[in-house]
Amino acid sequence: MKLAEVTRARRTPGLVVLEGFHAVKHALRFGGELLGTWTADPDELESLRERLAPDITLTAEVVALDDLQRVVPRAQVVAVARRPSQPAPDAVLAGTGHVVLLEDPRHLGNLGAVVRVAAAAGAAGVMTTGSQNPWHPDALRGSAGLHFALPVHHLRTIRTGGRELVALDPDGDPLAPGVALPADAVLAFGTERDGLSEQLLTAASRRVALPMAAGVSSLNLATAVAATLYSLKLSSS
Ligand SMILES: C[S@@+](CC[C@H](N)C(=O)[O-])C[C@H]1O[C@@H](n2cnc3c(N)ncnc32)[C@H](O)[C@@H]1O
Repeated sequence: MKLAEVTRARRTPGLVVLEGFHAVKHALRFGGELLGTWTADPDELESLRERLAPDITLTAEVVALDDLQRVVPRAQVVAVARRPSQPAPDAVLAGTGHVVLLEDPRHLGNLGAVVRVAAAAGAAGVMTTGSQNPWHPDALRGSAGLHFALPVHHLRTIRTGGRELVALDPDGDPLAPGVALPADAVLAFGTERDGLSEQLLTAASRRVALPMAAGVSSLNLATAVAATLYSLKLSSS
């Protein structure tokens, strides 16, 4: 594959564009298949690999800085990978572990940060609804490539596979020691500005809040997911 084909790869189903060292590193570490990798500074790339990821083998075609920046303005490395084949949503829901459901997330950096913390906390998968593609390069940059570590899907309509649907909502019942949530709940988080829809709140079996100090309206979406997953993880161990 040639660097000039990266722009087309962004629109090609089945291909994903990885921008930056961490995205490429995690894709490789979790079995991603790279079809092309490009850098303008092979010495810097090798020094990053030695320092941060000596476990991976990374070879990149060397290209002119201008050519690289025309394709990706801010990255020292760019790669195109095959989108991994991951368990389908129904298979994820039939398995074990918490599933994170993002209702219509708008900010791709937030979406990526959610994938990153879900991978770190050992969640079963991340599913999104709404207009954003969770495999957009900006989301992959936000997740540092950890989309390759767990199933990430876009759903047209919400489904839970018979699991309990729990709404995380600042106006819900405070999550506190002794408040147990099922280990296989679908944990639903709302859109950045408006929160969860009435439809989702109605469908949920309960509404749970992360307690906040007086005067604070809400947490950032990715922060709320992180706090929820880790509080559940630590309370179950
Ligand atoms: C930025 S917040 C949305 C704020 C929105 N104005 C609201 O009242 O829900 C995005 C999402 O993060 C989650 N969230 C933020 N703070 C939370 C809290 N204290 N408790 C539970 N969930 C929270 C909710 O799912 C929320 O829909």
